[in-house]
Amino acid sequence: SGTSAMSSEQWAGIMRGDESYAGARSFFVFEEVVKDITGYKEVIPAHQGRAAERILFSIVGGKGKCMVSNSHFDTTRANAEATGAKALDIPVREALDFEKPGLFKGNMDVQAFQKLLAEGKSNIPLVILTITNNSLGGQPVSMQNIREVSKVCRAHNIPLFLDAARFAENAYFIKLREAGYENKAPKDIAKEMFSYADGCLVSAKKDGLVNMGGFLAMNNTDWAKQARDIEILGEGFPTYGGLAGRDLEAIAQGLKEVLDEEYLKYRIKSTAYLGEGLRSHGVPIVEPPGGHAIYINAKKFLPNISSDKFPGQALVCALYLEAGIRSCEIGSLMFGENAPMELVRLAIPRRVYTQSHIDFVIEV
Ligand SMILES: Cc1ncc(COP(=O)(O)O)c(C=O)c1O
Repeated sequence: SGTSAMSSEQWAGIMRGDESYAGARSFFVFEEVVKDITGYKEVIPAHQGRAAERILFSIVGGKGKCMVSNSHFDTTRANAEATGAKALDIPVREALDFEKPGLFKGNMDVQAFQKLLAEGKSNIPLVILTITNNSLGGQPVSMQNIREVSKVCRAHNIPLFLDAARFAENAYFIKLREAGYENKAPKDIAKEMFSYADGCLVSAKKDGLVNMGGFLAMNNTDWAKQARDIEILGEGFPTYGGLAGRDLEAIAQGLKEVLDEEYLKYRIKSTAYLGEGLRSHGVPIVEPPGGHAIYINAKKFLPNISSDKFPGQALVCALYLEAGIRSCEIGSLMFGENAPMELVRLAIPRRVYTQSHIDFVIEV
């Protein structure tokens, strides 16, 4: 990630950046846009998503705690576990059936979550919905699922955060696939998604359309105060959080541009195009194509390579050696011996490739 092409307006923002140390004008430009989209009161910039994670988990994590998610991204899991907490994934069951198409395979299993709460054994300080679900195929989470998870969380007084790196792609999938949203603007759908949660963690290197940056936003002023104290120790003053003023300008502009419906249409269609091309050549992929990437099922594609020989990583290396295509293993190398899958992620940078680039990848 972080490989998107920035627009001329974003570059213009870079030129406008205010590099005063504290309280720079660029922070307020950034804060206004984040508040407008998320509706959260407290906005804390960070140099990238994992920095926001580290700050949040320093507040809510610790031994004996259990974070619950549809799927933690690997840095999210690592940051939770680094505090001594457990990171538990409860995706819907069909998420692990890679061949079966489904509309919202990024959803969390609400029944399993309720069962976990009923058992009363877990000390859950936070629930995180990753939208879209990067670790399990870039699949979207439905508005209904966000609403239901939120309802259960609120009934049990557990804060819900969105890991919202791909909030605009998720909003567009809701528009395409969920009844009642077909005539709504992606921005309004995004606002509704955020309204069911208490805060968000964002790597701006995805739907922020920038090469570096992230943020944490929330309604809890007490947590925000603690977060700013931690921020000063590692990231910098709370009005820049490890970023330059110009970076904040670029994120603010990127967050607006990413909600453009024509852009989202092109984005989701070009990812699906790669999926269709690979499928037509008999390459097994996670179905249906996700938002930001196509995931090859390396276990099925290379049945001759056992998990302890890392079939996904073997394919990653072969793609690079053959054609310089960079991809990423999501399987035994990333998650260790208990990985439930052996996938290779072909993530597509935003606003970078033309159709002929994608055709080249399919050909290889
Ligand atoms: C869902 C999700 N959360 C968090 C992160 C971490 O973000 P960063 O790479 O900016 O630290 C990523 C990065 O890919 C991600 O996909």
